[in-house]
Amino acid sequence: MSNLPVAYDVKTGVTEEMYKYMIQHSVHLHPAQKDLYEFTKNHDRAIMMTALDQCSLFTFFVKILNAKNTIDVGVFTGLSSLTVALALPEDGKVIGCDVSTEYTDHARKYWKQAGVDHKIDLRIRPATETLQELINQGKEGTFDFVFIDADKPNYDAYYELSLKLIRKGGIIAFDNVFFHGDVLKPTEPQAQAIDTLNKKLLTDKRVVITTLAIADGLTLVTKA
Ligand SMILES: C[S@@+](CC[C@H](N)C(=O)[O-])C[C@H]1O[C@@H](n2cnc3c(N)ncnc32)[C@H](O)[C@@H]1O
Repeated sequence: MSNLPVAYDVKTGVTEEMYKYMIQHSVHLHPAQKDLYEFTKNHDRAIMMTALDQCSLFTFFVKILNAKNTIDVGVFTGLSSLTVALALPEDGKVIGCDVSTEYTDHARKYWKQAGVDHKIDLRIRPATETLQELINQGKEGTFDFVFIDADKPNYDAYYELSLKLIRKGGIIAFDNVFFHGDVLKPTEPQAQAIDTLNKKLLTDKRVVITTLAIADGLTLVTKA
């Protein structure tokens, strides 16, 4: 860990009211994204859904990267895949990775509603297998954007595989890098896995990183 003096600037604290203002003034949602969001808000695992400010950031990335090939590790009810698919060109692709058809069956409905279902290739199997298969098929260095938001103990495996798959200039985004604050005193396996990865990324010479205090913490990685 770097040993810099850390001054917490209280002026950067965003109130709930300011956060709502920010969302209202910076996030454009397609009707299918709105419907998916409203449906998932009432799901008993709603906390897993990608935040709307993260979604607008991903739209921004897809555009500035001129992205065509992307991977979504952890699809759930489909908001992150839908967001990226909407921003991609007609021949763009999202490889969606999940192990649950219970969650992703909902996702398919909204992808179809938005008319982007043909851009999303959903693979129901452990994401490490999907990523390894892409490597075996010779797709190293061909992906523009990877979003990692699945089971935390596998984050490091997802990182190593994704690092092979992204091109120079591509971005890997990791969600939940604060793990609800538990990384400060990680006592259980999920927070420990995230904390270990956070420390590894900081000293990993292969990459440049930055972490945004957005939602539950989002780390962005690109090849050095
Ligand atoms: C936090 S949710 C993803 C949220 C999603 N990005 C969104 O936009 O709402 C995590 C997802 O990872 C999936 N998952 C858990 N273990 C997995 C594994 N080994 N491989 C692939 N997906 C997995 C879960 O089924 C769940 O749908």
